[in-house]
Amino acid sequence: MGKILIIGSKGQIGTELTAELVKRKGADRVVAADLNPAGDSPCAFEVLDVMDFEATAHILKQHDVDEVYLLAALLSATAEKHPLKARQLNMESLLFMLEQAREGKIKKMYWPSSIAVFGPSTPRVNTPQFTVNDPNTVYGITKYSGELWCRYYFEKFGVDVRSLRYPGLISYTAPPGGGTTDYAVEIFHEALKNKRYTSFLKEDSALPMMYMPDAIRATLELMEAPAEQVKIRTSYNVGALSFTPREIAAAIKRHIPDFEIGYQPDFRQTIADSWPASIDDSEARKDWGWKPAYDLASMTEDMLKNLSEGK
Ligand code: NAD
Ligand code: SER
Repeated sequence: MGKILIIGSKGQIGTELTAELVKRKGADRVVAADLNPAGDSPCAFEVLDVMDFEATAHILKQHDVDEVYLLAALLSATAEKHPLKARQLNMESLLFMLEQAREGKIKKMYWPSSIAVFGPSTPRVNTPQFTVNDPNTVYGITKYSGELWCRYYFEKFGVDVRSLRYPGLISYTAPPGGGTTDYAVEIFHEALKNKRYTSFLKEDSALPMMYMPDAIRATLELMEAPAEQVKIRTSYNVGALSFTPREIAAAIKRHIPDFEIGYQPDFRQTIADSWPASIDDSEARKDWGWKPAYDLASMTEDMLKNLSEGK
């Protein structure tokens, strides 16, 4: 049996996905890779720039990899600052890996998309799986075109590529990497440290969100689903929570009564305004049984408990 490679393993998702894959499959079946060598790894680790295609192909061969989770990307806020770099990393790493799969060098791959594939003309509430996609951010453009490339490689060449449109992800293990939804992680750290947080989004700016344990489970459930159940080969809507900065502040205040929030919206507000407020994930529920476990109250309690314990 071949190995599983996670590229971008030191990021917010990669850190927890690597740990869970090691737990489920064993450390000898998992290889982690990232530009950033910092910290320990629970399995073999390679320092890798995925844009060095020769080195990436070498790692696939050297470790006998047959499944890849391609997580390296620039997220929405960073991508607006470095549009060409985002286009290059987000698109070219995907096309390189799709080609590796087409040539039979790997058997299966996972590539995450985002709620950023939607745009200002998309219905904002309960955004359907199939609707207007008119992303107006660099990040959203790369994610939506990436989705179409995934479907093309599946339909034309039979490449088994699977994808989820993650909402904003909330976690305590690794910091978020430059997205518009990062406020929903920062707020917990600041609430515990300073009992005060200034949000870069407006108080009533609702966005779809998900707690990381749900996101990791969704990813692995999709990857483990029989191929015939994976009917959408662009990317699946997956939902869990939807809240505003005011609502998450109120949830935190139930545990830390003297916590205060202020608001100073910046350029990320424009990005948030173009995204859905909530997501209809009925296709994922129907096709492979998706169901989130955490709501705002249980996620808030778990985040505060784990951060207070220094995790
Ligand atoms: P992150 O920024 O936390 O992590 C990305 C990792 O990739 C980092 O460790 C970085 O060092 C690494 N990396 C960057 N360039 C690289 C390169 N050239 N070669 C190798 N490694 C490189 O991002 P994340 O939040 O873990 O997101 C992972 C994926 O999930 C991305 O595709 C992102 O668009 C998608 N996503 C994330 C969220 C979220 O809320 N976190 C939501 C939707 C989609
Ligand atoms: N959390 C991500 C971002 O804000 C959504 O893809 O960029």
